[in-house]
Amino acid sequence: MNPAVGFFDSGIGGLGVARAFLRLRPDARVFYVADWEHCPYGGRPDSEILDRVRLICSRLESLGSRVIVMACNTASAVALRQMRRERPSVRFVGMEPAVKPAAAAAAARGRRAVGVLATAHTLRGGLFRETSARHASGIKVVAAEGKGFVELAESGDLCSADARETVRRVLAPLLEAGCDPIVLGCTHYPLLLPLLRDEAPGVEFVDPAEAVARRAAALWDEIRVGSEPNAGGGR
Ligand code: DGL
Repeated sequence: MNPAVGFFDSGIGGLGVARAFLRLRPDARVFYVADWEHCPYGGRPDSEILDRVRLICSRLESLGSRVIVMACNTASAVALRQMRRERPSVRFVGMEPAVKPAAAAAAARGRRAVGVLATAHTLRGGLFRETSARHASGIKVVAAEGKGFVELAESGDLCSADARETVRRVLAPLLEAGCDPIVLGCTHYPLLLPLLRDEAPGVEFVDPAEAVARRAAALWDEIRVGSEPNAGGGR
């Protein structure tokens, strides 16, 4: 039987990553966990998020997942390194804000700042701070917490006046700073793209889902052809 690939998120956000993966590998066996009872993760203590991630990864591994995609930036910020240590037989793929391609795009079009929208956990996490320092040299990184965005996406409220106001309020400091592109550092945020584009006309939004899906597909290919599970650069 083909090894499975497990995906999880606090809710529906990570489905965009799973869908991108299935476009690349339609024959893969895939499991998806939406941890609705604990959604949103943002605002919860790290220890609680880590406990949830442990439980979900254990379940996904017991179902035969040899690759687990943390299709959640928040969970990745809190638990990715720990899970790699605790479950060496699984290949983990995490999400981190795509600062590198965004900084390159900003430089190419003569911009001086990129924006990053994410949860507070992601913004204060080591993954984000390290990638910003490593990849944004010369380009200013302006971060903003997408307060209320996960709730809007989960409730399907993508066009009310309140939703528009929430998006406008969060985007304001990024637009004032001249950020372009703006990185979507939470897998729920692409669901708000029509509103985001309306409120920031002409600004490019970067969604790392495709890149993460390609990484997961490469790891799944390796495992499928029977290569050493712990070899390679995905860990
Ligand atoms: N999709 C999650 C992320 O990428 C949502 C976080 C949350 O549940 O607050 O960060």
